[in-house]
Amino acid sequence: MTRITGATVVAGVAGAPVGHSLSPLIHNAWLAASGVDGVYVPFSPRADGFAAFVQGLAGGVVRGLNVTVPFKEEALRLATRPTPRAERAGAANLLIFESDGEIAADNTDGEGLLAALGAQAPGFDPRAGPAVILGAGGAARGAAAALADAGAPQVRIINRTPERAVDLARSLGGAVVAAKLDVAAFADTRLIVNATSLGMGGLVGPAAPFHRTPGAVVLDMVYRPLRTEFLERARKAGLVTVDGLEMLIRQAEPSFAALFGSAPPPIDVRTVCLAELGETP
Ligand code: ATR
Repeated sequence: MTRITGATVVAGVAGAPVGHSLSPLIHNAWLAASGVDGVYVPFSPRADGFAAFVQGLAGGVVRGLNVTVPFKEEALRLATRPTPRAERAGAANLLIFESDGEIAADNTDGEGLLAALGAQAPGFDPRAGPAVILGAGGAARGAAAALADAGAPQVRIINRTPERAVDLARSLGGAVVAAKLDVAAFADTRLIVNATSLGMGGLVGPAAPFHRTPGAVVLDMVYRPLRTEFLERARKAGLVTVDGLEMLIRQAEPSFAALFGSAPPPIDVRTVCLAELGETP
């Protein structure tokens, strides 16, 4: 058991619900291995009470928070010092409470997406061709911004509710466009990302013509189960796949550094998460 003292740095994750979050497991494994005097705990503020919760922490009551569903957009609005990438993503997954009262906000989801691609699809280059993102919520928005900023020539957004895809494309602009779910939208695509909630709990993932996208890399943000139906379908079509757990761990790395002041130690935190998920490595 960690020895908690008055000098222990306290950080955590806020979500509603938060009980399913793997972030406490990841960060506390890193804390234990690094010897940093810190602790990382789950918080579940009321859905309508996030603003009051954050205001109460301003000034450094805790060092900072990761933020998850449904609070990421509100977290950005509450921040007094957002990074440009958080503003562009329209959401924050990290708040830091400075001692002078400033609330800094960042978004490390896009960095996590790119790092997961680098880890599980070595040689993938976002600049090599168009990307398709399925979904138009907050997760899709962060991914679209990161891919466009990494030089993807086009980022095509496909969504059940087409108006949300059009809104997202309009607000990000540049390479980000709305598209319809047809084969033309997948022409020449180098990357297909599931940013919908479809496939959670082992259900069927979104449709995609994997047999018409040779050489494409396929990433699923859903990680329960780890091997989603979407990724299994892509794998059977011969495509390289990248799982949502890798993205989760990779977004946590810069979060840990911002919260605790040093890079996470090189331990195998993925195996720790797989055990918790009941998955075999
Ligand atoms: P997040 O912040 O995690 O992206 P969200 O804003 O609720 O969460 O977005 C969920 C995404 O999953 C949306 O793109 C949603 O499509 P709609 O905009 O049409 O709601 C998509 N989604 C959820 N359930 C779906 C379903 N049954 N079929 C297709 N898309 C679905």
